[in-house]
Amino acid sequence: MLQGKRLLLVIGGGIAAYKSLDLIRRLKERGAAVRVVMTSAAQHFVTPLAAGALSHDRVFTELFDREAEQDIGHIRLSREADLLIVAPATADLMAKMAHGLADDLASAVLLANTRPILLAPAMNPAMWANPATRRNAAQLAADGVRFVGPNAGAMAERGEDGAGRMAEPLEIVAAVEALLAAGGPLTGRHVLVTSGPTHEPIDPVRYIANRSSGKQGHAIAAAAARAGARVTLVSGPVNLPDPFGVEMRRVESARDMLAAVEAALPADIAIFAAAVADWRAASEAPEKMKKDGGALPPLALTENPDILATIAHRQAGRPRLVIGFAAETQNVVAYAQAKRARKGCDWIVANDVSARSGIPGGVMGGDSNEVHLITAEGVEAWPPASKAEVAERLIARIAAALGAKESE
Ligand SMILES: Cc1cc2nc3c(=O)[nH]c(=O)nc-3n(C[C@H](O)[C@H](O)[C@H](O)COP(=O)(O)O)c2cc1C
Repeated sequence: MLQGKRLLLVIGGGIAAYKSLDLIRRLKERGAAVRVVMTSAAQHFVTPLAAGALSHDRVFTELFDREAEQDIGHIRLSREADLLIVAPATADLMAKMAHGLADDLASAVLLANTRPILLAPAMNPAMWANPATRRNAAQLAADGVRFVGPNAGAMAERGEDGAGRMAEPLEIVAAVEALLAAGGPLTGRHVLVTSGPTHEPIDPVRYIANRSSGKQGHAIAAAAARAGARVTLVSGPVNLPDPFGVEMRRVESARDMLAAVEAALPADIAIFAAAVADWRAASEAPEKMKKDGGALPPLALTENPDILATIAHRQAGRPRLVIGFAAETQNVVAYAQAKRARKGCDWIVANDVSARSGIPGGVMGGDSNEVHLITAEGVEAWPPASKAEVAERLIARIAAALGAKESE
């Protein structure tokens, strides 16, 4: 998707600069032309030689470089790019941008810029939480600058933990693709995706859940955004970063999920990848249930609403394409075909979540998937692939199907 795109990467002076070398490689792999500007602090962490070798271009470091100013000056550097990426965006660079300072090449390029800017902040959690950085981030967002990350987690400094880790190179690539996707095959469409498990409360501290990680649903939402769609992602509790550029609706239970789905309609396409609990506790205890001398508490179950069938059977405002997922441990295709008919949806993506599936690490929680696509026309067996690849293929298939419907 980045074929022929011209990207200017500004590398700031943070420990995460080493990840920017991988970012250059990932962007180049996808066909982008990458030019690099490095601050003088950045050169303490990675060398212009390494960045230049990976970008196959000279690296720009000096504002007062006579040769460069006559050749490709700071104005041309920004104007010749489709998008500017700042990674890592240091607290210092963000402060300079927010205040319009331009005393080195990186900040002068950013100030002279008229293109979209994507920042990948990276800093110590205390720096990120500092009111000055909060003000600068809010100002930059109000100025139209886009952000990817930072993520939460362990920092390079020993013992430090919290929000401030730079987004991973592939997350930054996904954000770049989403920003450049205007004109993609799903531009102008609203795609609704559900993802993750649901949690069905038993009492204030206990719940019924399942092993869904949300990886497949989140990958589908990200792929739809990269294809230019407006995406609403209704997600149960997961431990994943929000995909770039999607509208998040966080829910806990199946009933919350149905309400969020209905509130997000109308949509052109609805993809129900969440593993919604079939049953919930018939009644939720208002207080924590106590152990009672060996007597087991009664746990009566009741059925949850069927989100897929509810939306697929809507008379008014049914999305044009309703896609369900079927996770089965046996007779995968036959069950999925029956499910397609019963639920009234257009397509079913069926996967074998049994230990026999042959997918390393298992399908639930793992990074790979092997699916069958079941449509009115028949059954397609897709080869094993990463969840990101399955998502790309599904979105491409949806775009083709909608295009074909429209030309009918
Ligand atoms: C070892 C080390 C690691 C640093 N890591 C970061 C960082 O991750 N984020 C940050 O904002 N500043 C970090 N700094 C501070 C910046 O390098 C410093 O503010 C510098 O002036 C930034 O310059 P620049 O914004 O022009 O690149 C670090 C400094 C040192 C010495």
